[in-house]
Amino acid sequence: MIELRNIHYLRIGTRDLDGAERFCTEVVGLQKIERNENALYLRSDNRHHTLCYFDGEADDHTVGFELSGHKGLDRALDTLDRAGVTCGRGTTDEAIARYVHSFGWFNDPSGNRIELLVRPFEANRRFFPARDSGVTGFGHIGLNSTDTERDEDFWTTHFNARVSDWIGKAPLIRVASTHHQLALFPSEKSGIQHINHQVAEVDDIMRSWYLLQDQGIRIVFGPGRHCTSGGYFLYFEGHDDMVFEYSNSDRLIIEDDSSYRPRQFAMEYASFCAFGSKPDVTEFS
Ligand SMILES: [Fe+2]
Repeated sequence: MIELRNIHYLRIGTRDLDGAERFCTEVVGLQKIERNENALYLRSDNRHHTLCYFDGEADDHTVGFELSGHKGLDRALDTLDRAGVTCGRGTTDEAIARYVHSFGWFNDPSGNRIELLVRPFEANRRFFPARDSGVTGFGHIGLNSTDTERDEDFWTTHFNARVSDWIGKAPLIRVASTHHQLALFPSEKSGIQHINHQVAEVDDIMRSWYLLQDQGIRIVFGPGRHCTSGGYFLYFEGHDDMVFEYSNSDRLIIEDDSSYRPRQFAMEYASFCAFGSKPDVTEFS
């Protein structure tokens, strides 16, 4: 069993680093930490960075999880290798570019690239948002899955991953105590389906709803309230057509695995939003 502490960062390719910087700072409210010829690093909380855009194809996505133990990387890679999972260890130069002590990588059964991080760097200054969007941190992702039952088995067999709820065939999975860090959505392709940042309060969501509309940003779902986590949310279209989400869904803490019962919700609009807001997001319908 490989113990993960939490989802930690995303690495996403783009051919337009300027556009990524503009959108992530001026619209989302993240903080630019570093920009060089090949990469842009963005902070959303107390970690060195939680999102990195690099010069590459827009469908080149990587999800980084921090390992719980700082000596567990060899064992984790051995476990995956024995299970027939394609995996390997990152080079020193790659670790430097990721601001981690060391890392390994593997491909999940859908072909998503996942990195296992050892001693990722902490921020040495507090998060200072580029705009007052209320962001309190990187929360979770939706991840495309070509077979959600198979991938749920993969995550819950090899990792300390637990299902918090299902919506239709989509499991909402946690490795930490908040409701979910990983939601697997049926798709024909691999890749990140949406990127969530947590915000402090519902007022932040409503303020952004008006502000984003004024800026001509396409709202694709909400404002609404998730039936699963109970969080208020807003989804909007971002750089390179990636869907971004604000929510305060990390309020639901699941500390006691033994007493929590994962719930099955029907795959219908009403399961995603208690208010009745209808998503313009393919994977949610
Ligand atoms: Fe979400």
